[in-house]
Amino acid sequence: MSGRRGYALPAVEHACEPAWVAPNPVTAGPLRGEPVARAVFDGLPARYDRLAYLLSFGQDRRWRRAVANHATAGAPGLVLDVATGPAGVALAVAARTGADVVGVDLNEPMLRAGLPNVRRRSVRGRVRLAAGRADQLPFPDATFDAVTFSYLLRYVDDPAATIAEMVRCLRPGGTLASLEFAVPPQPAWRAAWWGYTRLLLPVLGGIAGGPAWYQVGRFLGPSISEHYRRYPLSSHVTAWQAAGLSAIGFDLMSLGGGLVMWGRKSPATGTAGQAVPGSGS
Ligand SMILES: C[S@@+](CC[C@H](N)C(=O)[O-])C[C@H]1O[C@@H](n2cnc3c(N)ncnc32)[C@H](O)[C@@H]1O
Repeated sequence: MSGRRGYALPAVEHACEPAWVAPNPVTAGPLRGEPVARAVFDGLPARYDRLAYLLSFGQDRRWRRAVANHATAGAPGLVLDVATGPAGVALAVAARTGADVVGVDLNEPMLRAGLPNVRRRSVRGRVRLAAGRADQLPFPDATFDAVTFSYLLRYVDDPAATIAEMVRCLRPGGTLASLEFAVPPQPAWRAAWWGYTRLLLPVLGGIAGGPAWYQVGRFLGPSISEHYRRYPLSSHVTAWQAAGLSAIGFDLMSLGGGLVMWGRKSPATGTAGQAVPGSGS
């Protein structure tokens, strides 16, 4: 045995150790939580926007625009976009209004991928990005006129608490608007969605984006299904109401593959109204 500290085993014994490969947090359970959120997006930032567009058949931009439309309906002056990634929704909001927008995300590399976009002349100086966690936002109560988030709730340990934290930062009368993937409710479309997410998505992801996107392709479908098994749509609505939102509405987009929700912060909690499904599109 070597006398040097830190070398307890001779080389030959190391060679006899069975090879151990760390489980891949993207495809080995659990499917949610901060370590998963960090691991999933580790290799994605460089091509995130382009591949998200391709793999959703161009739907995700349309869905983000719908969120931005709801968030800007009240002509907000200051907007917070949580889980902003490369700032897609933040930019869509800024493009529609003269609002200042703050984008917050857990992953610094995702934020860095958005920097060239937020420096574009049309929005320069109006979109600022900061590292931060959705469940512990670094802002005082009632700071923002509108708050948006997209593709976030599958990653957090406690979706209801995270919604409450975002509503805390919203001024009374302000709008919360969100986008999440969803499971199509109609059986034939659900079967097609299942086939796409379980079989085609990993393959297309791997071809277009390499190993990191193959892993994400494998992760995405089970993560969406698991999320709605634990938190059906009705529980999302309940969480929004419990957080003090009223005039809650939602649209199932593109045959149910996307869920856009919106609501208004009540002047006082406890006055939440019923959720109204929109027309869908
Ligand atoms: C699929 S991306 C969506 C990015 C962007 N919203 C969009 O529409 O393209 C999900 C983002 O959520 C972020 N995220 C996950 N959990 C988070 C948390 N607890 N707090 C803040 N950001 C989080 C990830 O870092 C990632 O950038």
